[in-house]
Amino acid sequence: MARVVGVGLLGLGTVGSGVLDLLAREGPVLERRWGLRFEVRRALVRDPGKPRRRGLNGQLTTDPRAVLADPAVDIVVEAMGGVEPARSLILATLDLGKPVVTANKEVMAAAGWELFRRADATGAAIGFEATVGGAVPVIKAVKLALAGDRLRQVRGVINGTTNYVLTAMETAGLTRAQALAEARARGYAEADATADVEGRDAACKLSILASVCFGTRVSPADVPRRGIGDIRPADLAGAMALGYRVRLVARAEDQGERLVLEVAPAAVPEADPLARLDGARNGVVVVGDACGELFFSGPGAGGLPTAAAVVGDLVVLAWGRYGGGRGLPGCTCYRELAPAGAEEPRPGLVVVAPGPRGKADGSGEAAPEPDWFRAAVRYLAGAHPGLLSWRGFTLPTGGASREGLPPGGLPRGGEAGLACLLGPAGPEERRRALAGLAEELRGRALGYLDVGPWIPVVGGSARKG
Ligand SMILES: NC(=O)c1ccc[n+]([C@@H]2O[C@H](COP(=O)([O-])OP(=O)(O)OC[C@H]3O[C@@H](n4cnc5c(N)ncnc54)[C@H](OP(=O)(O)O)[C@@H]3O)[C@@H](O)[C@H]2O)c1
Repeated sequence: MARVVGVGLLGLGTVGSGVLDLLAREGPVLERRWGLRFEVRRALVRDPGKPRRRGLNGQLTTDPRAVLADPAVDIVVEAMGGVEPARSLILATLDLGKPVVTANKEVMAAAGWELFRRADATGAAIGFEATVGGAVPVIKAVKLALAGDRLRQVRGVINGTTNYVLTAMETAGLTRAQALAEARARGYAEADATADVEGRDAACKLSILASVCFGTRVSPADVPRRGIGDIRPADLAGAMALGYRVRLVARAEDQGERLVLEVAPAAVPEADPLARLDGARNGVVVVGDACGELFFSGPGAGGLPTAAAVVGDLVVLAWGRYGGGRGLPGCTCYRELAPAGAEEPRPGLVVVAPGPRGKADGSGEAAPEPDWFRAAVRYLAGAHPGLLSWRGFTLPTGGASREGLPPGGLPRGGEAGLACLLGPAGPEERRRALAGLAEELRGRALGYLDVGPWIPVVGGSARKG
């Protein structure tokens, strides 16, 4: 007999509707695997007259108390956004002893400590997996699965909009404005993407991630940040010429007495997992003393991906409350395997081996062949005193090789540039190194049109053989 869990939604927009969709789709499986049947009882909206893809006949309300205080509502999902009234409504829910799942990074970053203190006082729990990285389950991994490890570093691409923009500039040679327009047209960017471009959204998520990783309260205001506002296609092409990709990287490192925090564009070596994140994908690398380096990646936004994180939290919180206090769930298998070679075929899952052999016993339909992947990493030797290496490059629109300076100098009418890689250096050394390079270029009758920002290198070494 399944335990019925009444759910109240605060917000029925992209995320709230995704939760409805997923519960409708996966409800029977949740019931069989967890013995929990989730039923959405009430939803708070601003405008009940608004046309909705998925309605909740007679269950929409503009009165928050009608959701929170409904005795048929056991757990509340907050997916309305912003700090207020979300903060007050989460506190009021916790005061009623009801657990809360939130997808709202702003309220978690601004008032997380207050919400958790209230949750401790009232014995209710808070799930916030969806606040960082959408579907990427990094919060629970850090908080629960890695509870026994000492984490040292976390770095990630946690803003899909800016990653879409940077990779579109990189691969299609678009300007930042063109790439942003394309991101909007494809639904990856809001009409006002200022918080993304300036790095504020990533700083908000990093403050949550760093708090969870390092057991200290970090607020968005603590995070030094630089957005992608001064990154030009030339910076991306130059970084590629040296084997790097420019990404907006959010990183935090526990250095014992110090916590290093930053959101900034960074040159990430091609071999680093963050460099392979294209489009709006998110990814987080977590480094721990015992676990070493772990990488999590996936869609960082969208109705269904975010709902996957929300529903996962719903299951964990409901199971914690109604699961008999066993700490960890028991067996969640509910499907029978059809026994191989049985004389009387029984309904069940059929085991299929990869490749043309088909079923494990050699018969039946073939499973699709897996794709195989091979990566190549270039070796770049040092070429100039003080500089580890430098390389000529042309912009992607030029369609020319990026393996060196074009013979005979820069192409007429085309754009080209130089990318240089410098060893560990402060601002004064950087200035001197650039001046030295400029001197050498003058000797070759080449010069700069303009110089982009220095971008820090983050991640593993690109200079491998
Ligand atoms: N969208 C994503 O991909 C994504 C990913 C991760 C996290 N999140 C987070 O999830 C939260 C929700 O995002 P969303 O994209 O679903 O937003 P959304 O589409 O704008 O939906 C917000 C919902 O909340 C309701 N609402 C907002 N303020 C309200 C108020 N004061 N009183 C009553 N109802 C109110 C709106 O009502 P109406 O429908 O009547 O306007 C709407 O149903 C945000 O915190 C966001 O940062 C979103």
